[in-house]
Amino acid sequence: MNPIQAPFPATRLRRVRQNAGVRALVRENELSAGDLIWPVFVRGGDGIVEEIPSMPGVMRRSVDRIVEAAQEAADLGIGAICLFPYTGIEERTEDCAGAWDPDNHTNRAIRAIKAAVPDMVVMTDVALDTYNINGHDGFVVDGEIVNDTTVAALVQMALEQARAGADIIGPSDMMDGRIGAIRAGLEAQGHRNVMILSYAAKYASAFYGPFRDAVGASSALTGDKKTYQMDPANSDEALRLVARDLAEGADMVMVKPGLPYLDICRRVKDTFGAPTFAYQVSGEYSMIKAAAATGMIDEQRVMMESLMAFKRAGCSGILTYFAPAAARLLRG
Ligand code: PBG
Repeated sequence: MNPIQAPFPATRLRRVRQNAGVRALVRENELSAGDLIWPVFVRGGDGIVEEIPSMPGVMRRSVDRIVEAAQEAADLGIGAICLFPYTGIEERTEDCAGAWDPDNHTNRAIRAIKAAVPDMVVMTDVALDTYNINGHDGFVVDGEIVNDTTVAALVQMALEQARAGADIIGPSDMMDGRIGAIRAGLEAQGHRNVMILSYAAKYASAFYGPFRDAVGASSALTGDKKTYQMDPANSDEALRLVARDLAEGADMVMVKPGLPYLDICRRVKDTFGAPTFAYQVSGEYSMIKAAAATGMIDEQRVMMESLMAFKRAGCSGILTYFAPAAARLLRG
């Protein structure tokens, strides 16, 4: 940045803010629908679209309705869709076998979307929590969330998603060594072009509360996730995690949650220059919706301002439940 600047009144920084045309000329960042990844919730059944009580305006959809949503996203120019399964308690087991079932909700949805909307980029979630009886992202043995056997299961889960046609694998579990193991598995099975977007710097956050309702995990979760997700007090550790995941073969990295962690986004982008994403999580979404519902804030303007903040912080793109609403606004 050039520090040379004439003193007032030769420099009046307001000159370039005087009207919309000039403001557009000097604008430093742009947001487009292509920057957005839309997280969607897929459940069993047929013809079902049900609203999630903790996330106003966000739906759980059966596979047939997910295909319609993917078509809608494509029509709006949205960059990608990210699938999360909703599982009832009867679909959860201690051995988490549903996670690598070729016919689980996610894998059926991948095949259906790829058949109907082939150009839609499909991202997945890799973690055991939605199939685990206790809601944890890894196997629990004698009260411990065990790392290495979990990683082996995550590889199976990721490989089934790749077989179903996923474009981007999204490991959200925070186990050590899973990026390298998944990458090796993908290469060994010939999935050379399947990308990994690692949830590299994922914090143990209370902002995930509404999501755990959305996937059916809030009543299931025993204890907390602090032995694998990050301490919100830490920042240097995020850089070590990102460095590690890039070295193991991640193509892209993510910081999560989003808005409260923009400092991490900026540090990651400046340090590594890799494609960096942020996840504007369920709690961030629901806070904006709740405040707007009372009339305290303008929903559309706060939504767009929050999304632009991610671009300003150096993010390539954003996972956000606002994706269709924002894309519609960007269309004008
Ligand atoms: C779990 C997972 C979570 C989210 C995405 N994947 C919740 C958690 O870690 O408990 C949160 C997303 C959100 O809050 O919007 N693998």
